[in-house]
Amino acid sequence: MNIEDFEMIAKILKERSGLVLSSDKAYLLESRLNPVARKYNLDSIDELAAKARAGDEQLLVDITEAMTTNESFFFRDQKPFELFQNLVLPYMLDHRGQTKTLRIWCAACSSGQEPYSLAMMLKEMGAALDGWTIELLATDISRSILKKAVEGSYSQFEVQRDLPIRLLMKYFTQDGDRWRINEEIRQMVKFAPHNLLDSPKALGRMDVVFCRNVLIYFDPETKTQTLDHVAGVMNEDGFLFLGGAETVLGISERFQIVPGQRGIYGLVQGSVGLASETAA
Ligand SMILES: C[S@@+](CC[C@H](N)C(=O)[O-])C[C@H]1O[C@@H](n2cnc3c(N)ncnc32)[C@H](O)[C@@H]1O
Repeated sequence: MNIEDFEMIAKILKERSGLVLSSDKAYLLESRLNPVARKYNLDSIDELAAKARAGDEQLLVDITEAMTTNESFFFRDQKPFELFQNLVLPYMLDHRGQTKTLRIWCAACSSGQEPYSLAMMLKEMGAALDGWTIELLATDISRSILKKAVEGSYSQFEVQRDLPIRLLMKYFTQDGDRWRINEEIRQMVKFAPHNLLDSPKALGRMDVVFCRNVLIYFDPETKTQTLDHVAGVMNEDGFLFLGGAETVLGISERFQIVPGQRGIYGLVQGSVGLASETAA
């Protein structure tokens, strides 16, 4: 691919999704776009670039989706899920006793492992959540990955990564060489498309937000904008989880780290004090 075409596609990607494609990733662009070219019966990436330049909307969507990295797995990194269970959830159950409602948002949910991990965790709590309405909203920019998430069907490799065998046996059904997550867990998660570049106001207010392993693909300005959007819909004492390689430091003044808890953030003058109270 020539430099002009590379730059044109990198620009489209940045404008549509915030994803930054540096020139050392040209190889990635070619390997990810080959299937898109085939889908459109185009003989080469050059032809694909020409069609993209002409502004075919569906092609631009397909190019953007093809360039997203959808790697995810159940209970990824474990620690955030332990903190959710042992710190955040007890805090929320204590502070939402009046309304008995809780809203959790997985803001870049990919193929669904993150929200389904939370759903299984909540299910495991059994009667402790009787009478509670817990909404689990999971969004992603990519409609094709959301389709996979809704289906909830995973390969042997995908269910082997960090998913306890006990939960696999309890909440999945084997179907040939794949494992499908059971209806009762699928129904606990509502999936919808949402681009983090857009305002999330229409999604409603959130108590807990997981926005993990997506900011790493954005430039600093887009990270700041995304965190502003998240802050704008979070309840004052809400909690934000970021990925292991992500931080708010130097990026957002709206959030600060929950003392002693790497990877969890509260709004400035929001949950941080309260969370440290519960952590003490
Ligand atoms: C690496 S996955 C992370 C999945 C999950 N949160 C985890 O930590 O395992 C990143 C996801 O971010 C999504 N994504 C990329 N840009 C986005 C944007 N602008 N808005 C919403 N989602 C986006 C991708 O489609 C991809 O599914």
